Amino acid sequence: MSQERAIPKHVAIIMDGNGRWAKQRNKERYEGHIAGVESVRAAVRAAVRNGVEWLTLYAFSTENWGRPTAEVEAIMELFCRTVMGEADDLARQGVRVRIMGERTRFTAKVLEMIDHIERTTAEADKLTLVLAFNYSARREMILATRALAERVSKGEITTDDIDEERFASELMSRGIPDPDFVIRTSGECRLSNFLLWQSSYAELYFPEVLWPDFDEAEFDKAMEEYARRERRYGLVTEDC
Ligand code: IPE
Ligand code: IPE
Ligand code: MG
Repeated sequence: MSQERAIPKHVAIIMDGNGRWAKQRNKERYEGHIAGVESVRAAVRAAVRNGVEWLTLYAFSTENWGRPTAEVEAIMELFCRTVMGEADDLARQGVRVRIMGERTRFTAKVLEMIDHIERTTAEADKLTLVLAFNYSARREMILATRALAERVSKGEITTDDIDEERFASELMSRGIPDPDFVIRTSGECRLSNFLLWQSSYAELYFPEVLWPDFDEAEFDKAMEEYARRERRYGLVTEDC
């Protein structure tokens, strides 16, 4: 009897390699980001097809503000254009979008687009696409710690009330299950300040392919890789 293949409930992807993809083609870095949007579409389609319920994409880190202004502006512009072009279609596909990150430093236009895509897709229920945008795992843990300290100082909770569940409830990812599978494209093997708390027991996968080349077949290959993993959570299994 064949066993059912394990499907990750939550896949999180660090979309890396856009700049190198562009450089290989003698193009400007922002052209790599533009090409990367097609891979976002492919990942969403493949996630829905594979029965993944949550897909988180790391689109812009807090550290990325330090890149040249022209590149940052091109990414912001691309975000706005993509939201305008895709919001209705995502809603039709059953994809609800949630933006995770600090709502600071954005222009009024970007804030408006964040609001637009979250409102347009709010009722969709097949897949939740979480876009980590101006996201920093350390920053979210600092903000959670401050919020808890404030509740203790107001006497609303005691320090003994602070456990994993309560801490997680103060993170930007509140309500989102922990990722089962974290993929980083482009062969870099680091997390770059992404979901540090939430990925404690995630399976990690670092394919060489650059993000603009990550198509549906690559997503399916990743799903096969996940199915081969044995998750132990610190316990022992029967066969070892
Ligand atoms: C990832 O691609 C996209 C963002 C960080 C916004 P990069 O722009 O980091 O591409 P590389 O790593 O320079 O190739
Ligand atoms: C991480 O990629 C951030 C995103 C993919 C959005 P970076 O390219 O910014 O990370 P480093 O600098 O290689 O660690
Ligand atoms: Mg990079």
